[in-house]
Amino acid sequence: MPAKPSRRERRFKRKAHSQFSAWAETYDRHWLNRFLFEPSHTLLLREFEALTPGRALDVGCGTGALAWRLAAGGWEVIGLDLCEPMVQQARGKSASPAAGRILVTVGDSERLPFARGSFDAVTCANSFHHYPHQAVVVREMFRVLRPGGRLLLVDGWPDQFMGRIMFDWIITRVEGGSVWHRESRHVRAMFEEAGFRQVKQRRTYSFFPILLTRGVVPSEEARHAGRGAR
Ligand SMILES: C[S@@+](CC[C@H](N)C(=O)[O-])C[C@H]1O[C@@H](n2cnc3c(N)ncnc32)[C@H](O)[C@@H]1O
Repeated sequence: MPAKPSRRERRFKRKAHSQFSAWAETYDRHWLNRFLFEPSHTLLLREFEALTPGRALDVGCGTGALAWRLAAGGWEVIGLDLCEPMVQQARGKSASPAAGRILVTVGDSERLPFARGSFDAVTCANSFHHYPHQAVVVREMFRVLRPGGRLLLVDGWPDQFMGRIMFDWIITRVEGGSVWHRESRHVRAMFEEAGFRQVKQRRTYSFFPILLTRGVVPSEEARHAGRGAR
């Protein structure tokens, strides 16, 4: 039987749901798109340039901007988001020529409704700070990736003074609280504990400091043979 959600979990999810339900219609026109969301998608998509298109899952897909850009690049994409009105906005972009390659569904990042090894890539942009149990989500992402598949996660980088001002103060206020921006060493530790190898982090500035963390699922042999070979 699934564990009863804690008060913190209920608060985080209720907050995310009400905030994004109210925001869904105007989200794509918000100033944060120009200064934070779009630059973070561009940073993340650069990582796809060397990859052969396959199946991708975009967790916390929101209005689907990243998912649609991935589909335009030839990927078969599933977008998943907690908030139905955000999902409706993402589905509303179906006039795009990539429409046959994308499916958007309502769901919770902590319980991904997919079988083990279903995807070649999992992306997560600007959503991680809304999750009350982030380590659980990283383990779920690991589970649904095939061996050799990769997780690309982008979120605010709050490690330094400016990052703390921007994320713990400005963004937390814009988003109405109940969010949790993590320092890079914590995100790295969650990746490594979930089993990811070749964990790499890239920090960059658009207007906001952004952190991209990438991890690769080891092959079955590597998992069993070289537990120390990170
Ligand atoms: C700031 S938006 C980012 C949307 C999109 N990825 C982007 O970069 O524009 C955060 C999104 O995370 C979603 N979200 C929050 N908690 C979630 C959860 N537990 N599971 C799935 N999605 C969640 C919200 O509904 C919202 O659409």
